[in-house]
Amino acid sequence: MRKQIAAANWKMNLTLQQGEQLLNDILALTHEIKENQQAVFAVPFPYLQMAQQKLGNKQQVFIAAQNVYNKKSGAYTGEVSVDMLQSLGIKTVVLGHSERREYFNETNQFLAEKVNICLENNITPIFCCGEALNIREANSQNVFVGQQLAESLFHLSAEQIKKIVIAYEPIWAIGTGKTATSEQAQEMHAFIRSVFAAKYGNEVANTISILYGGSVKGNNAKELFAQPDVDGGLVGGASLNAQEFVAIINALK
Ligand code: 13P
Repeated sequence: MRKQIAAANWKMNLTLQQGEQLLNDILALTHEIKENQQAVFAVPFPYLQMAQQKLGNKQQVFIAAQNVYNKKSGAYTGEVSVDMLQSLGIKTVVLGHSERREYFNETNQFLAEKVNICLENNITPIFCCGEALNIREANSQNVFVGQQLAESLFHLSAEQIKKIVIAYEPIWAIGTGKTATSEQAQEMHAFIRSVFAAKYGNEVANTISILYGGSVKGNNAKELFAQPDVDGGLVGGASLNAQEFVAIINALK
């Protein structure tokens, strides 16, 4: 079975003390994370070390960064490199979140460079894609998401693409409380898998975990994750609440 993943994206929320408390609360409530499952915590850069020290030695639990720069080192004030993440033991990074695309002008081409530097340094990207409302209303979501994937990922070999996790996050569902229906999510995830199958073959496409993001909550996760091509979630708001996020972990297949 493909890896089933509950990934928390804290975004720019919580103080260090609040973050530590949240992880303590989640630890106290979490029972079993099965072998085919993972819990991932994408925390702000300044909290990576705290989170890694607290959870880094737990089976099936990974701490992730929310971003990384496309250069190895140098005069790039304010940026964070793959080597810095590696030196903290961080092996996962969220790339191409729609908020970074929108507010920090991250393009498909720029993201291709970030994907490359991650893979060259054994860091797993959780690569985000997804369309805005106007694109969905024009029924152009497949073309749009297909282009995001092609322009950022299709230069990769089959061996490399197997190391990527995809997060489909329709922008109209992020932070709006307006979740895609499980049918909409399944339809898009199946499309994304078919795009990989056409390029890399079915066998490779079937190994890629595709997470859904956009108003995932404790009470809708089970239905979303039950869809055959939905392999977990990338969770914003609900990941800031211990009970909610543990319910989401428990909803994994
Ligand atoms: P919400 O779960 O708050 O809608 O955010 C989704 C998201 O952007 C996760 O990366």
